[in-house]
Amino acid sequence: MAIRDGSSYMNGIFPKFELPPVVKGDLTGKTVMITGANSGIGFEAAKHFATMNPARLIIVCRSVEKAQESIKQIEGETGYKNAEPMALDLGKFSSISEFATRASKTLDRLDILVENAAVALTEYVPSEDGWESMLQVNAVGPAMHVLLLLPIIINTAKQHSVVPRIVVVSSGLAYTCDIGSDAIATPNTLETLSSKKYCTAEVLAKRYQQTKILNVMLVRKLVELLPKTVVPVTLSPGFCLSGLRRNATGEIAVQFKKMEETFAYTSEEGSRHIIFSAIGGTDEELRGAFISESWIPLELPDWMLSQEGKKAEDKIWTEMLTLFGKLDDRIPGIVTEYLKV
Ligand SMILES: NC(=O)c1ccc[n+]([C@@H]2O[C@H](COP(=O)([O-])OP(=O)(O)OC[C@H]3O[C@@H](n4cnc5c(N)ncnc54)[C@H](OP(=O)(O)O)[C@@H]3O)[C@@H](O)[C@H]2O)c1
Repeated sequence: MAIRDGSSYMNGIFPKFELPPVVKGDLTGKTVMITGANSGIGFEAAKHFATMNPARLIIVCRSVEKAQESIKQIEGETGYKNAEPMALDLGKFSSISEFATRASKTLDRLDILVENAAVALTEYVPSEDGWESMLQVNAVGPAMHVLLLLPIIINTAKQHSVVPRIVVVSSGLAYTCDIGSDAIATPNTLETLSSKKYCTAEVLAKRYQQTKILNVMLVRKLVELLPKTVVPVTLSPGFCLSGLRRNATGEIAVQFKKMEETFAYTSEEGSRHIIFSAIGGTDEELRGAFISESWIPLELPDWMLSQEGKKAEDKIWTEMLTLFGKLDDRIPGIVTEYLKV
């Protein structure tokens, strides 16, 4: 598989490609879960999955009501009847823990997990847990969610001799910045990134992009630490029409509108990257790949491959494990049993 260099993203250029049609597969007997499945790219991906007849399609939204509304539309448009709602607020660590408890009681397998949900905010909004919201919802929350679901995913691989995929939706914007050497130099980088004092307007202007770097770092860590019987993969869906920019105001909103009118993909087109990452290619090709338009893997951003990038990745991962261990007493056991140390 050829690898595309991602330098156009570094220069802020987002080329528009003629996309291949959505990849089709047979998901009979399999369980698929997707977060942020009521809007934009996630909703369109959920509909594509529904046409492939999975045994169970878990529609994860901020509330059961939103998930049920999404399921009604999926049923109406595809005729698929086995979608199930689950509530998850990624901006609340207790919701992630409760979700995992429910999942461990109700899911006997999990073949495809898509971490798609995210927010883009223009100002500092603290979550209920007191975290900067983009950091928690887009990056820290999804990492905890994946870790807590690992026992089900790895047991699926063992019991059914299949290779489950963990698909984390990132963005080409991961190429446009880094995490910030000043934050990396502090004793706890995540706490620094989250603090109101650190989050000046200049820092917040890069925060969404930074969370998309953390998404790629999560996949790199999973590749390093998980057995080959699980395929972690990340992707950039391209610039798409969706609800993501709903909070933009002023000059930036005008700029987004122009971009949307000139070169945006539809959410359906963006969702094809999720489907390719979830069922396309071979497991060897997709393991650790950063999938971009036309299903070509991207070279990882230079900063991420630099010594500083790797140091940041290791440091933030350690901080996450420590944090999650304090939040949920299942985490230390999961780390010992399922991750290579
Ligand atoms: N659109 C683009 O141009 C673009 C480009 C690159 C990458 N992406 C990525 O694509 C993914 C999907 O985004 P989208 O463009 O489809 O945006 P979207 O239409 O705004 O969808 C985002 C989804 O995330 C959910 N979500 C937000 N906060 C949440 C929380 N606290 N807990 C649980 N779910 C939450 C939203 O739920 P609510 O409806 O309840 O808010 C919604 O379902 C994101 O990871 C985004 O970063 C998008």
